[in-house]
Amino acid sequence: MRIGILGSGLMGGKLGTIFARAGHEVIFSYARSEQKLRQLARDIKGKAMSGTPREAAQEADALLLAVHWSRIDDVLTQTGDLSGKVIVTCSLPMNDDNTRLVFGHTSSGAEELAKKIPMAQVVSAFNTVPSEVLFGVYEARRKTNKPSLVYCGDDSNSKGIAAELIRDVGFDPVDAGPLRIARYTEPFALLIGELAYGGKNGPELAYRFEQFGE
Ligand SMILES: NC(=O)c1ccc[n+]([C@@H]2O[C@H](COP(=O)([O-])OP(=O)(O)OC[C@H]3O[C@@H](n4cnc5c(N)ncnc54)[C@H](OP(=O)(O)O)[C@@H]3O)[C@@H](O)[C@H]2O)c1
Repeated sequence: MRIGILGSGLMGGKLGTIFARAGHEVIFSYARSEQKLRQLARDIKGKAMSGTPREAAQEADALLLAVHWSRIDDVLTQTGDLSGKVIVTCSLPMNDDNTRLVFGHTSSGAEELAKKIPMAQVVSAFNTVPSEVLFGVYEARRKTNKPSLVYCGDDSNSKGIAAELIRDVGFDPVDAGPLRIARYTEPFALLIGELAYGGKNGPELAYRFEQFGE
């Protein structure tokens, strides 16, 4: 697939690198320095490029949106028309000092994003794990006990694309249902953040659901 990265920081930089290593064509975009975007692409030695958000969006089979909530409107003004695009968002609707979610209970960041780009298909994924665990999960991708990763969205085709990317990183995709379930997954992401950054064992933390009984 051709995957555009909108926001090439901790999440976008690492996920884009993994997507490229997994065989996808990746375009890194949206950082404060073009030099950083070029370096990310160069370090991969595969099918990776750097470009503008508009270039990242053109002909993309999927876009990963990985910016702080305060940058969402800015990046969306730079992509051009996103009609029909699959937008996989890991962005959490945090306030400016990252102390709380600005949407919850009756809406979610993913749903508010979908309202901003109604002709695009939004899938919420990758927001429930810290960036620090991503390379470790990828390295362990051939092991049997894969960590889970919840995702949700309203369009089955887009969810299929997201599930493929989730599998490529090394997670077991867990379909949590429609986009409104992001009202539950986004606060869950904050729990994971607490455990990752507030716990004793460091941020290389993922989770795994197990089914018991028949
Ligand atoms: N980090 C995590 O572990 C984690 C986990 C789950 C969910 N999330 C969510 O994922 C999203 C991305 O998080 P992150 O940690 O990857 O953030 P980040 O490292 O700050 O990356 C954000 C990207 O946006 C770029 N950016 C910021 N301001 C810009 C501007 N004015 N012009 C152009 N580019 C600009 C940054 O540029 P520079 O590269 O130049 O800084 C960076 O590439 C957030 O919504 C966060 O809540 C993060």
